[in-house]
Amino acid sequence: MNLVLLGPPGGGKGTQAKRLQDKYGIIQLSTGDMLRAAVASGSEIGRKAKAVMDAGQLVSDDIVIGIIDERLDQPDTGRGVIFDGFPRTVAQAEALDAMLIRKGKRLDSVIEIRVPDAPIVERITGRYTCGTCGAGYHDKFQKPAVEGKCDACGGTDFIRRADDNAETVNKRLAAYHAQTAPLLPYYETHGILRIVDGMQDIGKVTKDLEIILDGAAVK
Ligand code: AP5
Ligand code: MG
Ligand code: ZN
Repeated sequence: MNLVLLGPPGGGKGTQAKRLQDKYGIIQLSTGDMLRAAVASGSEIGRKAKAVMDAGQLVSDDIVIGIIDERLDQPDTGRGVIFDGFPRTVAQAEALDAMLIRKGKRLDSVIEIRVPDAPIVERITGRYTCGTCGAGYHDKFQKPAVEGKCDACGGTDFIRRADDNAETVNKRLAAYHAQTAPLLPYYETHGILRIVDGMQDIGKVTKDLEIILDGAAVK
């Protein structure tokens, strides 16, 4: 099963993708995570992407399409993937459609996690992740059981993203509305778009996603 999670920055795509991976045996492919790894490694792609990401703008279609094209050839994607943060432009969506046909795969579901702009800044500026295992947390909405200690791995080092400040968040939101929101009518026309209310608590959003995916799986 191949699934796209659409939604604004801070909408909960990464949080939900991590929760769905195990249940459905499919893996999260976050272009944001891949680009941050490229930046950390100092690769040519990372050098090109860094300034664009720090400015809250979108990295070029060619770069992200190339990353996904290569990644989908790895055997661990065989049972399916959750695209998190990709596609993000109509050109990327068209490239994904063509790529999946070429590779003999298909998109089963596209789900918009719908969240209005107002809560986004608080969600993003409160976000942090475990530096050891990548588990996600929030200062207010998703605290570890023991403060300062990761629930998943016991790690005590946490990181915050360079682009998670109020100023850059507003630019990322503007990019979402201008360049990514047009994907909603694109997928609606294809008849595979579903919507989940992303303002509910994290567990309830997961439940709503599971209802959709369980329906898609029996088809
Ligand atoms: P990317 O890493 O994809 O960032 P983004 O789209 O801005 O999304 P986020 O990761 O910020 O949000 P999320 O939806 O994953 O939310 P999360 O689950 O963490 O991209 C970063 C940059 O890379 C882009 O700006 C661009 O430059 C570049 N890039 C990436 N892909 C690209 C592409 N395809 N094309 C071009 N450029 C690309 O949740 C946020 C917080 O809220 C967490 O702390 C969480 O605990 C909390 N939370 C989650 N759900 C809830 C809830 N229901 N209630 C309360 N709190 C919640
Ligand atoms: Mg994310
Ligand atoms: Zn951890």
